[in-house]
Amino acid sequence: MSSPVIVAVDSASLDEAVALAARLSPAQCRLKVGKELFTAAGPRAIEVLQQRGFEIFLDLKFHDIPNTVGSACRVAAGLGVWMVDVHVSGGPAMLEAARRAVDSVARPPLLVGITVLTSLGEDDLPRIGMAGPIAAAVERLARLARDCGLDGVVCSAAEAQYLRATMGADFALVTPGIRPAGAAVQDQVRVVTPADALRAGSTYLVIGRPITQAADPQHALETILDSIAFK
Ligand code: C5P
Repeated sequence: MSSPVIVAVDSASLDEAVALAARLSPAQCRLKVGKELFTAAGPRAIEVLQQRGFEIFLDLKFHDIPNTVGSACRVAAGLGVWMVDVHVSGGPAMLEAARRAVDSVARPPLLVGITVLTSLGEDDLPRIGMAGPIAAAVERLARLARDCGLDGVVCSAAEAQYLRATMGADFALVTPGIRPAGAAVQDQVRVVTPADALRAGSTYLVIGRPITQAADPQHALETILDSIAFK
């Protein structure tokens, strides 16, 4: 079994990202490259981290017309990333284009969808023309993602519980907002421990600052893996 931990490398430069990667074991985690690092360093960031043995979740949350998202997903898949994501609200044609695009490479990355950003509150939904409540919107979008062949969605641990029950065992649930027991919460509002997130049905745990800002990131990672009895 592979580690469920994906470390969010929210660095502003490739040097910083490499310094972090040098302090982590690729046998015990994957790395998430998001918009900040990718905008700063581009595909070179992925290449360098892969050379160090890490599998990469390229978290660029594509959302555009089907042709554009399909093309971007094809390029991402060609970079050999392990996971890539798109906004489910881009609609079925966009999701199907993304699916076809990632399937065009020999070893397709996992393709996951963003449902409702957890930064949005109930009051925001009508303002962006979305029917609520949030839980219903998340479930509706998760079903659409599954119907269009996506491998899973990014969601909060609170959502993981009912999505696991309704979407079946094979649907990947990628969960941020994770804090080990006793860790600083920072700007996350609702947090759960790694063990609770897995119990709720999460497949992968996205963890940033509790690992990246630890004095010893590898030790922080190992403590988390111990807490979920991962060997
Ligand atoms: O440092 P922390 O553990 O809060 O980092 C979590 C990572 O997951 C960050 O890259 C953040 O942007 C991302 N994320 C999140 N909440 C979401 C979606 C993504 O915190 N709902």
